[in-house]
Amino acid sequence: MDRRYLVTALGYAILGISLGIYMASTKNHIQNVTHAHMLLIGFVISFVYAVCYKLWVANDNSKLVNLQYWLHQVGTIIIIVGLYLMYGNHIASNIIGPVLGVGSILILIAIILMKILVIKNNNV
Ligand code: HEM
Ligand code: HEM
Repeated sequence: MDRRYLVTALGYAILGISLGIYMASTKNHIQNVTHAHMLLIGFVISFVYAVCYKLWVANDNSKLVNLQYWLHQVGTIIIIVGLYLMYGNHIASNIIGPVLGVGSILILIAIILMKILVIKNNNV
């Protein structure tokens, strides 16, 4: 799971930095928030989770570990696509707002699960 998170994190880094370079070169910073959260939720948090699994949580394939991974992934994808549509003015914010809320809650549940996993694995 540590490697899976690491590979995922680097994928978001490539996407986020590509968007950053696009924003810088076109001088169009409208997707600033999308870029920031693609990198901070997608790259930074996934990388932190990779470190957690490497150092403090049993690197197994248990249901809880998989659930933790997929909640963070689904939440991140909802946030990235939602922010992109909202800041690009492709969708009304009152429609996408609740969807972004759901994505945020999935990300919150994933971090709560990670805290539970770290506490449960106090002998790793
Ligand atoms: C080659 C790489 C990168 C380029 C070209 C780039 C480009 C940009 C640009 C053009 C902005 C908009 C600035 C503005 O309108 O205020 C921005 C904002 C931002 N970037 Fe990047 N970026 C890069 C890498 C990163 C990385 C690696 C991270 C985080 C891990 C990051 C985090 C942020 C954040 C948090 C903001 C929002 C700052 C704010 O609104 O105060 N960027 N970036
Ligand atoms: C589900 C989780 C998150 C939610 C719902 C959220 C929400 C928000 C909102 C509403 C803003 C203001 C955007 C605006 O300027 O209009 C913001 C900005 C920001 N957030 Fe988050 N955030 C989340 C996760 C994170 C994480 C994990 C980090 C850092 C590791 C982070 C760092 C930042 C930074 C640096 C800004 C200012 C940059 C910008 O304006 O783009 N956020 N966030």
